[in-house]
Order: sequence, then structure tokens, then C-alpha cells
Amino acid sequence: MEKQNIDWANLGFGYVKTNKRFVSYYKDGKWDEGALTEDDTITISECAGVLQYAQTCFEGLKAYTTEDGHIVCFRPDLNASRMKDSCERLAMPVIPEDKFVDAVVKTVAANADFVPPYGSGATLYVRPYMFGSNPVIGVKPADEYQFRIFTTPVGPYFKGGVKPLTLKVSDFDRAAPNGTGHIKAGLNYAMSLHAIVTAHEEGYDENMYLDPATRTKVEETGGANFIFVTKDGKVVTPKSSSILPSITRRSLMYVAKEYLGLETEEREVLFDEVKDFAECGLCGTAAVISPVGKIVRDGKAIEFPSGMSEMGPVTKKLYDTLTGIQMGRLEAPKGWIKVIE
Ligand code: PLP
Ligand code: COI
Repeated sequence: MEKQNIDWANLGFGYVKTNKRFVSYYKDGKWDEGALTEDDTITISECAGVLQYAQTCFEGLKAYTTEDGHIVCFRPDLNASRMKDSCERLAMPVIPEDKFVDAVVKTVAANADFVPPYGSGATLYVRPYMFGSNPVIGVKPADEYQFRIFTTPVGPYFKGGVKPLTLKVSDFDRAAPNGTGHIKAGLNYAMSLHAIVTAHEEGYDENMYLDPATRTKVEETGGANFIFVTKDGKVVTPKSSSILPSITRRSLMYVAKEYLGLETEEREVLFDEVKDFAECGLCGTAAVISPVGKIVRDGKAIEFPSGMSEMGPVTKKLYDTLTGIQMGRLEAPKGWIKVIE
């Protein structure tokens, strides 16, 4: 198979139209078989549930070319199960988990020429999503839905690749105490847009959100979880019922313990203790692990000892081990890698 003629090394995190996408329709209480299509447009009612009441959720995962030339995906079963949780919380029909994984495999295989080559620094981002499509004017769930998957080749989420980021502690909240912060609802991202635009205008790369009830505990950013490293080398990640359970974070905590022999802790992290950590990173499918150099709250900066020029040493080891597993350089735990072809 001939690869597309794309300047893989200079891709940013943007949308590039690929050849095929998957679509399955839900009507009269059931999902159809679903099929691949070349049509990248969608026609729906002006009164569709997604347009009026934001009834939509999504997922994000990546396809990689491994060192030995296979195309693989990383833990798609966990995206399927998280999408189930999102659907249930948004009163949407669940897409069966095996159907989700099967559709990911089909969509990636159909766009194999867009999967960036090994060593290019780019990957194929896979975006499954679902939305209510029939007219809804009283506030209630839609009766008809579309489940779709498109793919787009991407480079690093943050400009500058692995250069440490500067974060602002946001004055806005990302999630409510008993709200939707733990699922991947489109509405969580809509309400973060004003906050991220403001942070960018002020020269910050991202926002750190605090817990909405007390504003004393670290939650996450708009699109990634946090990991911290203590001065004695322990890996710590915030525990909260209003953050997205990141698949990257769950994998990193396993890697830290089982591959690197580090102590790990998932617990509440007070903002007041952030100044005492040695390293800080953002983790997620898009972010991979992006180092954080500085966090500013009300004009007062916390600067991590790892500095503003490179990743801290433990963060770097975690990064190398995780990407080593994803790219097939290191043996993966059983069930983590789904081979596409
Ligand atoms: N937190 C938020 C709000 C996200 O949007 C994402 C991205 O999916 C993550 C965390 C990271 O999750 P994952 O590692 O499963 O991609
Ligand atoms: C992902 O990492 O897959 C996400 O959905 C985060 C998004 C901000 C791009």
C-alpha cells in the first residue's frame, strides 16, 4: 500500500480529510450494521437533538505504525467502555463495545495510507462520536442517533512538541460536582472554549482547573489529566469523580509501577502542595505526555525544578516507555495493543 504524500514531520494537531469514515444509524430502538462511506458531510434536521440540546459525546484514540511495520491501536476496548459510560449519562443508546472496536478496526484499515510511517513523529487520530439526529424541541433525549468514526493524521497537540508548558489556574470551572466531568460529553468542551481563548490571549498554553466545590484541589486541564512526580520519585495523579478517567493516565500509572518500579499514588492533590513537586506533566491521547514547567495562579508562579527547557527525568522515562509500547519497541501488557494489519 502506497502512503499518502504528506509532510508527516510537520503536521500539527489539525483536521486533514481522509478517504473513508464509518457510520451507523440508530432508529426504532436498534443500531443498523453500519458501513464505511466516502461522504464526509452530514445532513440532519435543523431541530436535531445535537443542535438544540448538545446531545453528543465522543472518544479519541490513535493508530500507530510499529517498528516492524504493523498498524496498531492502543487499548480501543477502554474507549468503547468509556463511550458506554458517556452514552448512559447523556441518555443516549449505547453502542455495543465489540461493535465500537470492530468499527475502529475497519475505519483505520480503510485509511491505512493515512497512518503516518514509523519514526515520522505523527500518528493517525481516530475520532468516534455519536449524536442525536431527529427533531427534538421539548427537552428530552432524541429517538434517532448516528455513531460515526473519522480519522485524521496528526502531529503534536501543543506547538513546540515537548517544550514545557505554562499553565494558568483558571477562574472558571470545567465541571460541576455531580455533573458530566467524568464523561466525554461535547458540552464539557464547549464550556471550556471561553476559558482557553482567555488563557491563550494572556499568553498561557493551557488551563489548570480546580475542583468546583472547594477550589482547593487539582482536577485536570481542558483535554488531559495531570501526573506529578515528588522529589523522592513517586508518581502522583489526582483522584476526583469529576475528571475524565484518562486511558493514557491509567496506562502510565501501570507503566510507572510495573515497568519502572516506581511508587504510585492516585489521591486527592491539594493545589497548595503543587509547589513541592519536582515534575509535572499533562497526559492524554492527544497530549501523550506534555511536560509542564510553570503554573500561575493570580499572577503568582510555581516553577518546577525540571525547568522550562526539557522534560523532567521521570516524565521522560514514562514518555519513552509508553511510546515504546505503543510503537512496538517494548513488549506490551496483554491486551493493550490491537493489531489492525
Ligand atoms: N481529560 C480530558 C478532559 C480529555 O479530553 C482527555 C482526552 O481524551 C483526557 C483527559 C485524556 O484521556 P485519554 O488518555 O483517554 O485520551
Ligand atoms: C484526546 O486526547 O483524544 C482528546 O479528546 C483531547 C482533545 C482536547 C483533543
